[in-house]
Amino acid sequence: MNPFPSMEEIRAQFPALASETRFMENAGGSQVPRSVIEATAKYFETSYVQVGAGYPESDAATGTVDLAHDFANEFVNAGARGQCILGPSTSTLLASVARAYVRTLRAGDEIIVSLANHESNIGPWVWLEETLGVRVIWWPTDPNTYIVDPRTLSPLINSRTRLICVPHVSNLVGHVTDIKAITRIAHLMGAEVVVDGVAFAPHRAVDVAALDADWYVFSTYKVFGPHMAALYGKSLSWAPLTGPNHFFIPRDDIRHKWELGGPSHEACAGWLGLRSYLSFLAGSEYEGRKTVESSFSRMETLERRLTEKLLQFFSQNPNVTVVGPGMGADRLPTVSFIHRVKSSAEVAHALQIRGFAVRHGHMYAYRLCESLGVAPEDGVVRISLVHYNTAKEVEALVAALGEVL
Ligand SMILES: Cc1ncc(COP(=O)(O)O)c(C=O)c1O
Repeated sequence: MNPFPSMEEIRAQFPALASETRFMENAGGSQVPRSVIEATAKYFETSYVQVGAGYPESDAATGTVDLAHDFANEFVNAGARGQCILGPSTSTLLASVARAYVRTLRAGDEIIVSLANHESNIGPWVWLEETLGVRVIWWPTDPNTYIVDPRTLSPLINSRTRLICVPHVSNLVGHVTDIKAITRIAHLMGAEVVVDGVAFAPHRAVDVAALDADWYVFSTYKVFGPHMAALYGKSLSWAPLTGPNHFFIPRDDIRHKWELGGPSHEACAGWLGLRSYLSFLAGSEYEGRKTVESSFSRMETLERRLTEKLLQFFSQNPNVTVVGPGMGADRLPTVSFIHRVKSSAEVAHALQIRGFAVRHGHMYAYRLCESLGVAPEDGVVRISLVHYNTAKEVEALVAALGEVL
């Protein structure tokens, strides 16, 4: 017997999917399963009080926030090497880390920044350049393959390099960067690697231990959870930095020193609710990291045929350029394209009025568009699928694209 739920059963977990709309803008934000909605509602109903006061409702709230951190650590496979903090968004967390580096970086230090990044992993480092006189060294994306190629890193790195800031997956290109190769090169030179995992985390199990990432950030609202984000850092990376919270909070109490104002408690509850959905997908009880891995492996299987179908369709249209590589194990179902004649705005609108939730533009990968010669304001049309999208939806999209392109 197949222990895994059927596609109908999967979709029934997401109330929003009852809509006629085909949700294909998941890289912007994914839908949430019932378990997340119910866990959030339950928190509001039973323990919506301040943490740490000592009465039963407060103890329950404290437990929820503590467990949410444990789950984030499990989700990225932090183990004993580091820990996650939670915050409102990836952009906020990266800006916070960059601000802390003001006290440890010096003029003349260098930060290598991949042009494939979303601006949230660029702006904070450019701010450091403007504030401190550290140098940003731009790392271009290969204009033919669209990938972040670790082989092009070595000429940029030297003994002054302190940080390398790179996406695990570009939110336009959909290709998994070889982070392991990058951390290997970086660590030989004593540099740290800041990985933006936002566009990777909804598709594969994050494993900071295997990647040997120094920093890793992702947004829970793109991973079927509530609007929040998590930032993992190695203990060695947190240690020299001082978090922004009040003077009487010890600097080695990482969570409390760094989480200015604390995370959203109700979002912590919702985030914890995701464990039930992952168990459901894995077809077993929640067993920590094992369930995280098996549920994402299930997602990978479900996604693969969608990616293949879409890429195969585009490969047959000579007027279309896909901004990303062809099918492969490291290709995610985030597919961006431009048309030789029609504007991206025109194509996206034509799809939207046919019931497809897609979008066009630079999606904050502004500098990537510029560097690839794509006009950022019109940008690309992006189709971003996740495991709950169906082959039927992709067939309908392909038919609509046949009319529109
Ligand atoms: C790849 C990538 N990085 C970072 C972000 C920013 O995330 P947040 O909205 O949590 O700041 C996004 C948001 O779209 C993204 O796609």
